[in-house]
Amino acid sequence: MLTVKLDKSPITILDMFNSIASQYDVMNDIMTGFSHRRTRKIAAQLSGFKSNEKVLDLATGTGDFAFRLYSEAQGTIIGTDISEKMLSIALLKTRRLDANRFISYNLADITRLPFLDETFNLCTIGFGIRNVPDPLSAMIEVARVTKKGGRFIIVEATPSPHSLVKFLSLFHFQKLAPLFARLLSSNVSAYNYFAESISQFPKASDFAETIKQAGWKKVYHQPLYLGIVTIFIAIK
Ligand SMILES: C[S@@+](CC[C@H](N)C(=O)[O-])C[C@H]1O[C@@H](n2cnc3c(N)ncnc32)[C@H](O)[C@@H]1O
Repeated sequence: MLTVKLDKSPITILDMFNSIASQYDVMNDIMTGFSHRRTRKIAAQLSGFKSNEKVLDLATGTGDFAFRLYSEAQGTIIGTDISEKMLSIALLKTRRLDANRFISYNLADITRLPFLDETFNLCTIGFGIRNVPDPLSAMIEVARVTKKGGRFIIVEATPSPHSLVKFLSLFHFQKLAPLFARLLSSNVSAYNYFAESISQFPKASDFAETIKQAGWKKVYHQPLYLGIVTIFIAIK
């Protein structure tokens, strides 16, 4: 099968997310049939986040993973992203939630984080790592800012090990999601990119190996929905 070479340069990714920021939340609900909410809830529960801890939510986007962590515990939460438009929506939602005392945001690339070594007890990233051109360097950088014994939770769309499920999920993302995007989004090519980036993501066991290569000591992964989403849990 022909593999499309995806342009994941920060400027392209940044332009793309800036252009879809205002429709991102609605499209997320439609494309996943609301299941992304349950996924984040499970991931936040697995993270074991406590109110005396400091968490960094990477590629935080419009903030939904940060808010889910906030409903687990009112610790210190920092969200970072490269898209100022996604972050401005996150900030609006934070004010509406009256959570400004706990959640703040920084414009930052995951590969160059503006934090000292060993700052965070927990780092999280939801549906963000597949947009990064060099996930290995990104995960090395995340390890740098995580305390010894700290956790890193990665949630990502993965190819299901069951061939029929894999076929159906790719059909959904490659054929159906762009149809919805044509009705609701100003940037249909972004949704073609999502479908392609999901189809090119490595299988969960291979990605777990890459996490280990980045210096994370223990790595577990838990498939959800027959493996179309995986939660990776890494310990430094
Ligand atoms: C699919 S959204 C996920 C947003 C959010 N985590 C969620 O669960 O809904 C991916 C996010 O990754 C951000 N992103 C992509 N590349 C990045 C990078 N190199 N550094 C930081 N953020 C990045 C995008 O701007 C976008 O907001």
